[in-house]
Amino acid sequence: MSGDARKTAEGLSYLTGFGNEHASEAVPGALPEGRNAPQRAPLGLYAEQLSGSAFTEPRAHNRRSWLYRIRPSAAHPAFTRTANGSIRTAPFTETVPDPNRLRWNPLPAPAAGTDFLAGLWTLGGNGDASQRTGMAVHLYHANASMERVFSDADGELLIVPERGGLLLHTEFGRLHVEPAHVALVPRGVRFRVELLDESARGYVCENYGAPFKLPDLGPIGANGLANARDFRAPVAAYEETEGPVEVVNKFCGNLWTATYDHSPLDVVAWHGNHVPYVYDLRRFNVIGTISYDHPDPSIFTVLTSPSDTPGLAGVDFVVFAPRWLVGEDTFRPPYFHRNVMSEYMGLIEGAYDAKAEGFVPGGGSLHNMMSAHGPDRETFDKASTAELKPQKIDDGLAFMFETRWPVTLTPHAARADHLQQRYDDVWHGLERNFRV
Ligand SMILES: [Fe+2]
Repeated sequence: MSGDARKTAEGLSYLTGFGNEHASEAVPGALPEGRNAPQRAPLGLYAEQLSGSAFTEPRAHNRRSWLYRIRPSAAHPAFTRTANGSIRTAPFTETVPDPNRLRWNPLPAPAAGTDFLAGLWTLGGNGDASQRTGMAVHLYHANASMERVFSDADGELLIVPERGGLLLHTEFGRLHVEPAHVALVPRGVRFRVELLDESARGYVCENYGAPFKLPDLGPIGANGLANARDFRAPVAAYEETEGPVEVVNKFCGNLWTATYDHSPLDVVAWHGNHVPYVYDLRRFNVIGTISYDHPDPSIFTVLTSPSDTPGLAGVDFVVFAPRWLVGEDTFRPPYFHRNVMSEYMGLIEGAYDAKAEGFVPGGGSLHNMMSAHGPDRETFDKASTAELKPQKIDDGLAFMFETRWPVTLTPHAARADHLQQRYDDVWHGLERNFRV
């Protein structure tokens, strides 16, 4: 943490657009013109392709970037196993899948000197990382900047800060991410996290499946929800650090470490569409009813990881952003619900309109497949009798990782001291109102 880092973070410039074929060079002339792999790359750089999809996937799904770097990634010693800390990976088999509604308070403060990687704490997940299906829910709580570099071969990382700004140093350049923003680091991309405040806390969706993309808009039309132009990718920036740098690689569920003799964040120029990015959730164009009822919460989808079945997401990232409620003769909070999908919810700031209390920023709830959930009693009572004038919901920012399979907990999440013991009570006292 330093004032210099914050100044750097706030002064960064970006490339804009989702899924674009971006190009950037930190030194003029570093990017080859007209070909990817010239006999000699400019400025004595090494040319290297990073593939985020199979070579042969359809053009619309194909993701790769070309990196022009001081040393090729191949120049490294052998990796050896290191402790996984509180990180776990699918398949999750250490506990029995739990049909109960569950809710956690925020992660407790970590020991001094805990960096982002050491502060990662896996709640649970589904699928199988080595089969590239499913997802994991992690939380993090850190109070030190990373000196080491990390990459995740198992999936892309959607980082959702709840407290504390972050400066991500990636192979592609630097990204500034604050609470109410999200950052995505693609599968395999090396990065380290510098803290901009005393501590940092938040959530991470590790997506083992198809990369997140913007949802189709159907009859909504050409605009709306998260607009492509609001996604920002870094401009090229490189480190010339010589000397020992620890690089940690997450591979099929385990952490592996190697000590390089240089920083692997040494990419001087790059082009391609497999890139990290940030997005400001306050830019989300919220769409809802202007007559009665309200649409399913899928209308709040920011990013979706599709499966092989059309419309069935491996995981959706959904945000409950500030919005107007104007529905007539409508129960306005999220309705009572049982869902074939499983819902992990977190809160970035303020309050969530279906829960009067107990759901706090940094906490989270899990409503697994077919578990019954909905507004608590107090919210139901209020919303059933409220005068239905236009109402602005502007005091909270909640989100959901909604996934096609139940989330199985890690043992440390199932037995955590910060797991609330009486969450079911919020639905107690919903009176029998039936009259014939
Ligand atoms: Fe739901």
